Amino acid sequence: MIDIHFGDNLEILKGFPDASFDLIYIDPPFNTGKVQARTQIQTVRDDEHGDRTGFQGRRYRTVKVGTKGYADTFSDYPAFLEPRLEEARRLLKPNGSFFFHIDYREVHYCKVLLDGIFGRESFLNEIIWAYDYGARATRRWSPKHDNILWYAKDPENYTYRFDDIDRIPYMAPGLVGPEKAARGKTPTDTWWNTIVSPNGREKTGYPTQKPLAIINRIMRVHSNPGDRVLDFFAGSGTIGESAERLGRSAVLVDNNPEAIGVMARRLGFAQPRFHGIDAPPMAPAGDDGDLFTAKPPTPEPS
Ligand SMILES: C[S@@+](CC[C@H](N)C(=O)[O-])C[C@H]1O[C@@H](n2cnc3c(N)ncnc32)[C@H](O)[C@@H]1O
Repeated sequence: MIDIHFGDNLEILKGFPDASFDLIYIDPPFNTGKVQARTQIQTVRDDEHGDRTGFQGRRYRTVKVGTKGYADTFSDYPAFLEPRLEEARRLLKPNGSFFFHIDYREVHYCKVLLDGIFGRESFLNEIIWAYDYGARATRRWSPKHDNILWYAKDPENYTYRFDDIDRIPYMAPGLVGPEKAARGKTPTDTWWNTIVSPNGREKTGYPTQKPLAIINRIMRVHSNPGDRVLDFFAGSGTIGESAERLGRSAVLVDNNPEAIGVMARRLGFAQPRFHGIDAPPMAPAGDDGDLFTAKPPTPEPS
């Protein structure tokens, strides 16, 4: 079951009873000082006025179908986060885990804050999600990673389903023998995974959408089938999709109507319940790339 709540997460979190979730993952705004926005375009066949050339020299016209976004700036970021992190700890079951996804510019401040709330001994891993996509900086090393901090409410008692970890290829399979090479190895705390492809099926069009593969790994290993999972900065609902497909239930919270609209379409297959909003503002068809609509041919840039 998926529950989607519309509104400020602090007020909504206060309404949940203590110890009601097995796993909490959050990916709050990163405080970049910008507006996070993504403009979606569609291409339609137009031999007369097309501005791009595609397959077999056909002409396509670019049509702007909308922009989704939210403000990503806080004058006092720790003061915004702290009461929400306190709530997260209260809401975790005694053997629950908390995952905090953040960028490299804020992670240090957040780690100090989280150590104060959960206790240093509860900190178990800093996962580096490395993606290596996009343009390269020419005056410093290109920053191409996010940080994910893992805290267990009780560092002696938590869910870690080792056998459910997806395996990755050895870098030098010739050195380990055919059996081990075929089985692959478990990942370390550095996870290589590309970003959500701008042209792929997974794309919802919501800015800062995180890859399902990263979230599925957390879901499989750190929760059990039937568990209840919370994401109170839910965005496009990646946690909801992962939970539903892997047999967990999820509670998703966001205060942006566009996020609720994207989740309504993305998670429609799970027939979610909505709270704090009468009729979910459905993102119009075609507004979210090729996730639910037939994909138009992708033209090559002219
Ligand atoms: C980085 S995005 C999350 C992206 C998400 N992980 C995904 O895969 O799509 C952060 C989200 O937090 C939401 N948000 C920011 N402040 C909030 C608040 N006070 N209450 C609820 N949601 C909030 C924003 O609307 C945005 O959708």
